[in-house]
Amino acid sequence: MKKKIFDIKNLKSRKKLVCLTAYSKPISKILDKYCDVILVGDSIATAFYGMKNTRSISLETIINHSIAVSKGVKKSTFVVDMPFNTYKNSKQAKKNARKIFKKTHCDAVKIESNGKNFHIITNLVKSGFPVMGHIGFTPQYKKNFTPQGQGQKQEQKLIEESKKIEKAGAFSLVLECIAEKTAKKITKLIKIPTIGIGSSKFCDGQILVTDDLIGLSGFYPKFIKKYLNLQKILSEAIKKFKNDVRRNKFPKRTNTY
Ligand code: KIV
Repeated sequence: MKKKIFDIKNLKSRKKLVCLTAYSKPISKILDKYCDVILVGDSIATAFYGMKNTRSISLETIINHSIAVSKGVKKSTFVVDMPFNTYKNSKQAKKNARKIFKKTHCDAVKIESNGKNFHIITNLVKSGFPVMGHIGFTPQYKKNFTPQGQGQKQEQKLIEESKKIEKAGAFSLVLECIAEKTAKKITKLIKIPTIGIGSSKFCDGQILVTDDLIGLSGFYPKFIKKYLNLQKILSEAIKKFKNDVRRNKFPKRTNTY
């Protein structure tokens, strides 16, 4: 049965939420068996398209990949990232969210917090578009990677931000690279589930970029656990193919009409 927004909210403190990113149908079809949430993240910019950062990915590209991903999603809650500069004001956010929902049949959109855009969430939710929030290291707004929420002042700021996002009506909140102590406090203080990426085991769930987890992206910061070295596995397979072609061992009779 399809997991609804209500089910995700309800899982807080009951079951750890399993969340991953997908950019294609073959991957989303595999993830759908195991995940509560599948996200088409704007990390596609760096992990898939090799861009320098996530700011340059267009709405059209995210929508096209989301249409592909939707074909493999049957059970999981399906979330699509709103790219940078597509939710600058409520009017623009609603117009673009409507387009995303209509074309991709997603269940929710995710928007990164810049510490000021809470009213955008309020207006999207009021218009019937469920929103996942995102705080801490928010790549659309912060250039250089630094762990977040380490001093008392930073911690208090993140706590306030998470409360405002909850009040605005978000159904869940991604905590990216937030110190364990702070992530733990936020998770206790708000009623919506927190989904951590580099933010400790104390979050209500975890999300990773699938391409990092399978060892394909070449990006392995401390918070990644590499479950597979797909770069190596692919390289070995391609090398075998190359040798077979050079030595005229492929195709065989069985591969020939
Ligand atoms: O873009 C993305 O993949 C994300 C996740 C890392 C949370 O925002």
